[in-house]
Amino acid sequence: MTDRNQSYKLVNQRLDHLIAPDEDVVSAMSTIVCELHHTCAGFDWTGFYRVIRPQLLSVGPYQGHHGCLRIPFDKGVCGAAARTASTIVVPDVNAFPGHIACSSTTKSEIVVPVFDAKGMVVAVLDVDSNDAAAFTETDRTELEKIVARLSSLFDAPARDIE
Ligand code: SME
Repeated sequence: MTDRNQSYKLVNQRLDHLIAPDEDVVSAMSTIVCELHHTCAGFDWTGFYRVIRPQLLSVGPYQGHHGCLRIPFDKGVCGAAARTASTIVVPDVNAFPGHIACSSTTKSEIVVPVFDAKGMVVAVLDVDSNDAAAFTETDRTELEKIVARLSSLFDAPARDIE
């Protein structure tokens, strides 16, 4: 098993214990980015951009250097993933037209759309790496499964905290 596969196994084991079925969605998002960022080597910026109004993404929760606060759907890799409702793997950010460089050290990136229970795009998960071509089909599959944990938590009624 590759190091990255082992990392995802560990992340999923921890998320199984940390995220309740009716978890607050911001708590769940914060926990996902924390576990991914601190477990997966090469994850140098890990965070969500949420759809705060039509065609506009806003940063957070995230881990790593300062991330730009707002991204319209017609800009960057994040905007493209939200616009097309599909995961985008970027082996070389310099080869992606319109890539937004929040850090000069970023070499590769993956952006995964997050859907609510109705299938609407409500956020994207963005992971930047300082390593070239850091993301593979394994990352696409595993990160899509991880963000699917959130779908039922958007627009969920506030839970009674014991
Ligand atoms: N690179 C992203 C912008 C977000 S910063 O990397 C955190 C993009 O092109 O949309």
